[in-house]
Amino acid sequence: DQIEKGGYDHFMLKEIHEQPKAITDTFRGRMLADKNMIKMSSVDLNLDKFLNANRIIIVACGTSWHAGLVAEYLFEDMARIPVEVEYASEFRYRNPIITEKDVVIAISQSGETADTLAAIKLAKSKGAFVYGVCNVVGSSIARETHSGAYTHAGPEIGVASTKAFTTQITVLTLIALKLGKANGSLSDQAFKDYIQKMNRIPKQVEELLKIDDHVKSIAAVYKDAKNCLYLGRGFNFPVALEGALKLKEISYIHAEGYPAAEMKHGPIALIDENMPIFVIATNKGHYEKVVSNIQEIKSRAGKIIAIVTVGDTQVKEIADHTIEIPDTQEALTPLLTTIPFQLLSYHIAVMLNKNVDQPRNLAKSVTVE
Ligand code: G6P
Repeated sequence: DQIEKGGYDHFMLKEIHEQPKAITDTFRGRMLADKNMIKMSSVDLNLDKFLNANRIIIVACGTSWHAGLVAEYLFEDMARIPVEVEYASEFRYRNPIITEKDVVIAISQSGETADTLAAIKLAKSKGAFVYGVCNVVGSSIARETHSGAYTHAGPEIGVASTKAFTTQITVLTLIALKLGKANGSLSDQAFKDYIQKMNRIPKQVEELLKIDDHVKSIAAVYKDAKNCLYLGRGFNFPVALEGALKLKEISYIHAEGYPAAEMKHGPIALIDENMPIFVIATNKGHYEKVVSNIQEIKSRAGKIIAIVTVGDTQVKEIADHTIEIPDTQEALTPLLTTIPFQLLSYHIAVMLNKNVDQPRNLAKSVTVE
């Protein structure tokens, strides 16, 4: 067991630290940065289906559903293709409208989630083209889909998903970029710029992981919180949801993720001096709006822990704690902003003496309906 953990105390921590390598493995053979190209035969061979799709419907559960939400922002922004993201369990039972002109993307780490598998079968029966994004090679979902891409994250043992999530986002970003280039939504220059920035992500994640001690010290301050709020906007709204999910899963602290602007329609009523609020405030994503959300929190005495872009000064003045991420395109920031949240949940759970790798009541893969 100790050997398998590679010197780390838990699989989760090992898997968090494996992300630079996992993302590099996801790139392998696909990301040809020196040629400004992305090679993915599963997309090239089905290009007409993607480009002529009425819409893309993404089905998934849990963390994979959050990766799907990031993909919605990516596909719509980069490739201008309408996207709907569905919980597989809701989708399959509501008599959904699916046609032969729809493309369904199923996202699943294990490739065995019963609801996702059933949603795929339903979509196939209606004539949709079904594409899978799975981690486990040869899994049921990988076999059931018409085509797909593996994330190549390697085995994920910790029940709380970490590297599977970032590699799912990696694959989905590559697809969005490819489609955006193919249908002309992205100019050659914009595409090139994305490729170069994307190619730097593994190194930036590696750099970012050095903040571990800083995050640990923040974890020590907030470990006894009873409720936490996670806020983000745009590409980082799903990251807020995922941050809250990570905390719930392994530390059993109640946490909610919310789009920052929606705060005033409810969660603001909960804010007092006992409420830590984790806010993603990267410098290109509606920054001023998020700053004003942070001010609203401050004036209600909430504790603010903000994820900011390196060099930030404005949020630093208001927040109780800041965590810096390296600079990149806003669309690529989910691959960075999610890392501090993983570390934070990990450290809180360890400090609370919880079973990090096998939290109570949760299963790595839910193969029952
Ligand atoms: C379970 C796991 C989660 C995972 C979800 C979907 O709830 O505990 O970590 O996100 O299933 O699993 P999948 O294998 O389909 O991605």
